[in-house]
Amino acid sequence: MKTETDFADLSGKKALVTGAAGGIGQAIVKALTASGAFVVGVDQHADGVVSDDMLPGDLTDPDYCDTLPQQAAEVLGGLDIVINNAGIIRRGPVTEASDEDFRLSVSVNIEAPFRICRAAIPLLEENGGGAIVNVASCWGVYPGQNHPLYCMTKAALASLTQCLGKDHAHQGIRVNAVCPNEVNTPMIRSGFEIRGLDPDRAILELNQSVPLGRIAEPEDIADVVLFLASEKSRYMCGALVEVNGGKAVA
Ligand SMILES: NC(=O)c1ccc[n+]([C@@H]2O[C@H](COP(=O)([O-])OP(=O)(O)OC[C@H]3O[C@@H](n4cnc5c(N)ncnc54)[C@H](O)[C@@H]3O)[C@@H](O)[C@H]2O)c1
Repeated sequence: MKTETDFADLSGKKALVTGAAGGIGQAIVKALTASGAFVVGVDQHADGVVSDDMLPGDLTDPDYCDTLPQQAAEVLGGLDIVINNAGIIRRGPVTEASDEDFRLSVSVNIEAPFRICRAAIPLLEENGGGAIVNVASCWGVYPGQNHPLYCMTKAALASLTQCLGKDHAHQGIRVNAVCPNEVNTPMIRSGFEIRGLDPDRAILELNQSVPLGRIAEPEDIADVVLFLASEKSRYMCGALVEVNGGKAVA
């Protein structure tokens, strides 16, 4: 039987994963661990973090973000991989967005990855190089309707990825992003609940709109993250990899 390690051997690699208690985050932690990596999980909900080591906290705290890579390196004995996966979504047209919606979206989706990348790059270089994978979104590349804060902040994360991918390749640091479309996680399910819909039924309906016949499961995204974190993607820098089941954003 094929194991994760056959696909991408990360034996002994040390990884920091944010949003580790979320739908995609848990799948990323499991995929990295199954491939032999040691993982420090970061989330505000410590009870959902599935890695052995964790550094729970709030990514809207600048000091926490600035020190996370160093703290993770101390826990793990070095740092090779950083996955900026945590994210939030604020829905509705700009005319209904509050200052708090704006601040929180910018803080979690842009400022935290910026701070974590800035602090991690020197540590990755010290270790002889490494990989950063940002979880952006198809909506950061092709904006969907009525989610301007989400689309705008994911576009910024996509752009940061492209910039850092170029700027730090010479240090052996590869920075890439995965851009999912719809994924079956609490993020998408909560949107249906807010609209008074049954998430299971709504997802069955949504599945019809995807050429592959279903929206993504977290593992579909985690496998692409694993690829981008591993030597299998050794020549990729600054790429935005869409993972959409064939469904382009209309
Ligand atoms: N689900 C989708 O359809 C979808 C599509 C495209 C992109 N994405 C992106 O994938 C990533 C993971 O999303 P998910 O679907 O697993 O969502 P999720 O809500 O299940 O997980 C997000 C995690 O981030 C954590 N988080 C949020 N704010 C935080 C903060 N201030 N401090 C610490 N932790 C914080 C949450 O606690 C949660 O565990 C996000 O960046 C999201 O934008 C998701």
